[in-house]
Amino acid sequence: MRLWGGRFEGGPADALTRLSVSVQFDWRLAPYDLLASRAHARVLSRAGLLTDDELARVIGALDDLDRACKAGEFRPMVADEDVHTALERGLLERLGTLGGKLRAGRSRNDQIATDLRLYLRDHVRTIVSRLVELETALMGQAEEHAETAAPGMTHLQHAQPVSFGHQLLSHVHAFSRDIDRLRDWDRRAAVCPLGSGALAGSSLPLDPQAVARELGFDSAAPNSMDAVADRDFAAEFLFAGSLIGVHLSRLGEEIVLWASQEFRWIEMDDAYSTGSSIMPQKKNPDVAELARGKSGRLIGNLMSLLTTLKGLPQTYNRDLQEDKEPVFDTVDTLLLVLPAVAGLVATMRVNTAKLAASAPDGFALATDLAELLVRKGIPFREAHEAVGHLVVWCQVSDKTFDELTDDELAKVSPHFTPDVRDVLSVPGALAARKAYGGTAPDRVREQLAALREQVDGQ
Ligand code: ARG
Repeated sequence: MRLWGGRFEGGPADALTRLSVSVQFDWRLAPYDLLASRAHARVLSRAGLLTDDELARVIGALDDLDRACKAGEFRPMVADEDVHTALERGLLERLGTLGGKLRAGRSRNDQIATDLRLYLRDHVRTIVSRLVELETALMGQAEEHAETAAPGMTHLQHAQPVSFGHQLLSHVHAFSRDIDRLRDWDRRAAVCPLGSGALAGSSLPLDPQAVARELGFDSAAPNSMDAVADRDFAAEFLFAGSLIGVHLSRLGEEIVLWASQEFRWIEMDDAYSTGSSIMPQKKNPDVAELARGKSGRLIGNLMSLLTTLKGLPQTYNRDLQEDKEPVFDTVDTLLLVLPAVAGLVATMRVNTAKLAASAPDGFALATDLAELLVRKGIPFREAHEAVGHLVVWCQVSDKTFDELTDDELAKVSPHFTPDVRDVLSVPGALAARKAYGGTAPDRVREQLAALREQVDGQ
């Protein structure tokens, strides 16, 4: 039951059939193909190419086919080349020759481009919801830990103390940009290729603008050749998906570190951690590791499609069939990973005592000391040098800043009068960073409120 048998004498070789069949993966587009078919049937009827009675029968058959697909009663067969072939078989089974009228004015080239856009626009909405759930989990923890001091790191070395809530919210901003990117993507994806036919449009009096509106697109494609050749929307989606993957991977890597014995910043809930088949004591961060690991395939999917597209002449080429598996895999992967990471974050217990105790480690208050000297009028260059010497003194004598006597302070530099101890407090160091965007708990709470408002709007 091929859609193109007329000019061929023999049947296709088995090797060709096996190579070209796509129904095993494009079958998931069936509901979208049926939506597009309904819109196309209406346009054919408005063009006078289907009578009212024929239209009613075609729509009835499409509805019934939709129901049968959902119920699993109608399934693709091995002999169906692709989703369009399978559904045309279903239509012919229901309508006989009338079923053959629906193909007028359209091609699988504009159909597949339309189906994939419909599928992706629909699934991107679900991905956005899952991102919002992850943001909500991170914000819930940030709310509890706005005041919790933690070691802030650069180069994975203790740098300056930060609010742990501030650190958690830093990830929310990244996911929030991802959501913006998907929304922005949707604006460009909201262009409907149906009506472009194989490449040149149609000689039949179709109404692509009406079809576009009916399918929820903003407009019809202004160039039929671009419409069937363009997969920018898929590549852009795969890029947005890759960046989400990278953000998940960076968060995952942090969680792996935090859960380690060396950090002990968090305890993962049993429901979101795994054990070892040999070491009875193990509690492993597999969710975070898989979030990190899956970013590889997300990036791979983007590379795969870009490589496929590169060098294709206009317009449709069968290479474009290779667009679907990377797109589906990125959708599936994100929908698997996002809820797991959201659950891991929502249920992890933060070891506030451990965080607070290690916040000043590594002389993390050194910048505060230097900035105190700056407030006393000493050039920062000189202050930086003096505090550097103090650090060396401490290292040699195995002391923290707190443990230095007045004499020791004065010996390193006359600038270090006893009052410098005033800035050697972690809560003080956090509260002092109160300019917009800083880690002061008050600013973190404001940031959280603004993010909540933004996320509500997303
Ligand atoms: N399975 C094809 C794809 O995914 C559908 C379009 C086929 N068009 C064609 N002229 N062979 O791209």
